[in-house]
Amino acid sequence: MEQYIIKGGQPLKGEVSIGGAKNAALGILAAAIMTDETVTIENVPDVRDVRVMLQAIEGIGAKVKYVYNNTVQINGKSISDVRVDGEYVKRIRASYYLIGALLGKYKKAEVALPGGCNIGTRPIDQHKKGFEALGADVRIEYGMIKASASRLKGRHIYLDVVSVGATINIMMAAAMAEGKTIIENAAKEPHIVDVSNFLNAMGANIKGAGTDVIRITGVPRLHGTTYSIIPDQIEAGTFMFAAAATGGDVMIKDVIPKHLEALTAKLVEIGCDVEEFDDAVRVIGKKNLKSTNIKTLPYPGFPTDMQPQMAVVLATARGTSVITESIFENRFKYVDELVRMGGNIKVEGNVAIIDGVERLTGASVCAPDLRAGAALVIAGLVADGYTQIEDIYYIQRGYEAFDKKLQSLGARIETVDSDKEIQKFKMQVC
Ligand code: EPZ
Repeated sequence: MEQYIIKGGQPLKGEVSIGGAKNAALGILAAAIMTDETVTIENVPDVRDVRVMLQAIEGIGAKVKYVYNNTVQINGKSISDVRVDGEYVKRIRASYYLIGALLGKYKKAEVALPGGCNIGTRPIDQHKKGFEALGADVRIEYGMIKASASRLKGRHIYLDVVSVGATINIMMAAAMAEGKTIIENAAKEPHIVDVSNFLNAMGANIKGAGTDVIRITGVPRLHGTTYSIIPDQIEAGTFMFAAAATGGDVMIKDVIPKHLEALTAKLVEIGCDVEEFDDAVRVIGKKNLKSTNIKTLPYPGFPTDMQPQMAVVLATARGTSVITESIFENRFKYVDELVRMGGNIKVEGNVAIIDGVERLTGASVCAPDLRAGAALVIAGLVADGYTQIEDIYYIQRGYEAFDKKLQSLGARIETVDSDKEIQKFKMQVC
């Protein structure tokens, strides 16, 4: 199996361009099937999760055309089936967005129960609550979610939990329901706004995305459009934290600085210099970064998807830091791997207590999930010596050309598939 081999100790320097947001793309690609006209979507990240979503869309009969590397065309007119094969759904959680899209357009959908990163139980009760409120009958049987409705009628829906997935799924179904829907306690992430803007570009009538109250007036049909996906806030943040942790100086380009405010604030607080430009941020890491405390929260709070990467930055900061993970119940699986690299971290429930150490040392580790895997890459870049990271397919789910982008910043990292290639790497970099 492919793995990363890294020789640490090299500060990252230079500039890197950020791709389209994976978590916006997955909602937008699902929503694209809601019209019988052609939709062209630009700035689509070429990552595993997106490829699986496109396969799922083709699997139900939609036409998918790869125009360029990061541009796809989708036409949902030829959809012949509303049953999404379990093979795709087990591989990515976001395939459940096809329920909202198919239910909105065809008033029925059958999708296998979702898979995805094992960072917690990840229930779908709020999705079900929203679909039922709109008048759908939703059953979970034989490992499938089956939703159907003679008609969908707009309703006032209050989410018990701030849920990105439920907000996007309900927004899609409501976009083609009759009458007005209000989603209260909605998630406010940038990717919610992007999906809403995309649906509006197709002729939907959605207002308030990005706030906790979204108002939707259903329309009978949607039309084709061309749309470009926003930059990936989490990919950008991952490179910001890699620059900070390695004491580097990196210009992260093609970003929306506003989406990164919680990250910028924390980097400045611990002693980094961060300079903001119209569509870029420059991060200059410093030695002896200060400790701090983090609590993950829904946007605009500190994002849970950046929690592992922050732990790596704090692992070699001066003093004791405390990270509280308030969104998912199992998002500290990387800590054991970080301790093997010399980190001094204790996990008690949903809290990690990090005592900064002088240095990390390279080791063989496994990526437990997508963002934890990215965090271990940062740890390898910081550590003295060599780090081998297995199960990198997790990382490839959400980062396009991660190794190549890091190499362009001076990182000594290769994707290898054999001991021979590892030895060759070690000969080259020593
Ligand atoms: C999305 O997951 C993202 N995935 C996750 O990113 C991200 O961590 C998460 O939002 C939070 O920002 C995609 O967009 C594909 P939620 P999602 O519904 O929608 C509870 C990554 O690294 N909940 O906002 O599954 C849930 O248990 C991935 O790119 C319910 O209780 O997250 C959690 O505690 C990892 N009932 C909280 O809400 C529900 O019906 C937030 O989950 C739904 C969720």
